[in-house]
Amino acid sequence: MTARNRLPPWHEEIRLANGRQVLIRPIRPADAEPLRAAFALLEPDEVRQRFLYAKPELSPETASRLTQPNPKSEFVLVAAEPLTPGDALVGAVARAAILPGTRQAEFHILVSHYVAGMGLGRHLMRRLVRWAKGKRLERLYGDVLEENEPMLALAKSLGFQRESIDTPGMVRVSLELKRAATPEPTPGMTLG
Ligand SMILES: CC(C)(COP(=O)(O)OP(=O)(O)OC[C@H]1O[C@@H](n2cnc3c(N)ncnc32)[C@H](O)[C@@H]1OP(=O)(O)O)[C@@H](O)C(=O)NCCC(=O)NCCS
Repeated sequence: MTARNRLPPWHEEIRLANGRQVLIRPIRPADAEPLRAAFALLEPDEVRQRFLYAKPELSPETASRLTQPNPKSEFVLVAAEPLTPGDALVGAVARAAILPGTRQAEFHILVSHYVAGMGLGRHLMRRLVRWAKGKRLERLYGDVLEENEPMLALAKSLGFQRESIDTPGMVRVSLELKRAATPEPTPGMTLG
């Protein structure tokens, strides 16, 4: 069986501005170890922006949980090398999870600095929005450090509104999905 045939049925091939080819696909259990390895290469600030606190490593338990989302309530995409999951380096992870008992989902995203600034964050956020709309959710939101200009700018450009929350130093960005009209990226497109 070729590597391509072992890929999940839904995936997108994207060429980044630097010419690198990446796959956008749902996360797989086999991504756990590559994710743990990639985590060790992140800058402390990247980890803090995503997890909101310093985190020395991605534990096997956390990696296992992240790579086996509940299909009813969670959606997790990766941007990875075009190789079999497990062999592929993972450069970005975007996750949305429905809050139990609500029509809202919270998102988290991390694009590693190796592939940042090339359109992946925007592409992955659009895919989360599309998933949330497909689930007929009312709202997609994320809590962001107020100094996180890249994420705040990205969210604003996608139509998310800023809200204040009780946690000092944090803001919430949220998208009302009934009104949202996020332009769709074209599959197979070149980003950046
Ligand atoms: C925020 C983040 C997801 C952006 O991902 P990215 O792939 O670099 O973003 P893109 O290349 O798709 O850029 C999308 C938009 O983000 C904004 N942006 C990206 N990098 C930026 C920077 N260095 N400064 C200001 N704005 C920036 C811009 O609005 C940009 O749109 P433009 O290209 O039309 O100007 C990424 O920097 C990241 O993962 N940061 C660490 C984790 C984090 O902050 N997560 C968010 C909290 S859950």
